[in-house]
Amino acid sequence: MDGLGDEDDGLLWERDPEKHRVASKAMSPAFSSNALRAKIPTLNKYIDMMISQMRDHGQDEAGLDVSEWFTWLAMDSATDLACGWELHELRDMKSHDFLEGMDAAGMLAIVLSTAKIYPILTPAVMLLTSWRAMTLIPKMINGLRAKVVERIERRDSLMHPDFCEQLLPVGKEVPKTRKQLRHMLTVLGQLIIGGYDTTSVVTYMFFFFVLRNPEVLRELKREIRENFPRYEDITAENLKSLPWLNACMQETLRVVTVATHHSLPRISPGAMVNGIYVPKGVICRTSLFTYNRSERFFHDPSSFRPERWLARDHPKYDPVFADDNHRGYMPFITGPRQCPGREMAKITFRLVVSKLFWSFDVVQVSKRLEFDKDFRVYSIWTKPELRVRFLPVKREV
Ligand code: HEM
Repeated sequence: MDGLGDEDDGLLWERDPEKHRVASKAMSPAFSSNALRAKIPTLNKYIDMMISQMRDHGQDEAGLDVSEWFTWLAMDSATDLACGWELHELRDMKSHDFLEGMDAAGMLAIVLSTAKIYPILTPAVMLLTSWRAMTLIPKMINGLRAKVVERIERRDSLMHPDFCEQLLPVGKEVPKTRKQLRHMLTVLGQLIIGGYDTTSVVTYMFFFFVLRNPEVLRELKREIRENFPRYEDITAENLKSLPWLNACMQETLRVVTVATHHSLPRISPGAMVNGIYVPKGVICRTSLFTYNRSERFFHDPSSFRPERWLARDHPKYDPVFADDNHRGYMPFITGPRQCPGREMAKITFRLVVSKLFWSFDVVQVSKRLEFDKDFRVYSIWTKPELRVRFLPVKREV
C-alpha cells in the first residue's frame, strides 16, 4: 500500500502500470484456487436461498422477473464476499439502497464520460442528473465505508473468508491513515462493481437465450439431471467437466460480450503496432463485441449456438463451426489487466444454472424480447423485465 501515490485508483481505474502492478499483486492470492474454494460455501448459501425463494414464490402465473432476482443474487454475494456485508435482498425480495446507489453511479459515470468527450453537453448533463442519484450515491459510499470499518473492527472473528482478508490479513496492523482506508474501500468497491453486474448480466442473458432455444434447453436439462441424481451432488468441481453447460457459458459470453462497454481504453506509451507507430498518449480502444459478432471469425455469429464450442467427439458437434477462429475470443481479456474474478464468475454461472435447471422447469410469461431491439448498453447492459414461472421438477422418491 505504501507504494501507492496520493491518487489511488485501486485496480480497475488505475492508469499507472506500476501502481496497478503493486495493487494487483497484493490482491492476487485472494483469487488462488484454495482461496476461491473457501468462498464457495458463501456463494452456495445465496444460490440455495434463491432456489428456495423461487420454489415458494415462482409458481404463480405472474412468474418472477429474473432481471431482479439475478441482480439480487449477484449483489448479495458480492458484498458478503467483499467484506461480510449481508444486504438480504434475496431474503427480503427487494433492492437495497446500496444496489440502487451502484446503479445510479454506473449511469452517472457514463454520462460524465460522454460529457468529457462533448463538453458542450455538460450543462444538460448536470440538469439531467436526478436528485435521487445525487442522494443515493453518497449514501452508497458512506454505507460501504461504515461496513468496511465494522469489518476491520471484527477482523479476528470472521463468519467466513472474504476479499477484505487479503487487504487486512489477521494480525496485520489496521489501516491508520485515510489513504490506507481509502485504498481498501476503492479495491473492495471495485470488486463489488466488477462482480455484481457482470455475473448478473451473464446469467440473465443466458436465460434470455435458452428460453428461445428449446433444443439448447432440452440438452442442458438432460445433461444436468442425468449427471446429478441429488441436488447435493451438484458441486463446483463436478460441474467443470459438463460439456454442454460449459459450451452454453462460452456462447453466452461470446454473443453478449459482457464487458463490452469498457471498450478497453489503453494509453499508448509510444509503440509500433502492426507496423504502425502509435504516439505516446494516444488512447486506443478495441471492441470485443465487434470481434465476437464478426463473420470473419464465427460462422452464423448472431445465433446462439453452443455447438461451436464442443469437441469433435461430442454427439452434438456440428462441423459447420469447424472453421470458427477462437483466437481473439477473450471475454475476460488477457495480460496484466485481465479479470481476476474470471474463475469465480465461471463457478457462479455453472452453479446457478445447474441448480436452477435441476430444480425447475421454466416457462416465460412476459413478452418475447429481441436482442438487437430491446437491449441497450450504457455503462452496463440493461436487463428488461423477463418474467419466468419456476415449476419444481417432480421426482420419484
Ligand atoms: C462473467 C463475468 C465477468 C466478466 C465477463 C468480466 C470481464 C472483465 C474484463 C473484460 C475486465 C477488464 C476490464 C478493463 O481492463 O477495462 C475485467 C476486470 C476486472 N474484473 Fe471482471 N469480469 C467478470 C466477473 C468478475 C468478478 C466475479 C469479479 C470479482 C470477484 C471481477 C472483478 C474484476 C476486477 C477487480 C477487474 C479489474 C482488474 C484490473 O484492472 O486489474 N470480475 N473483468
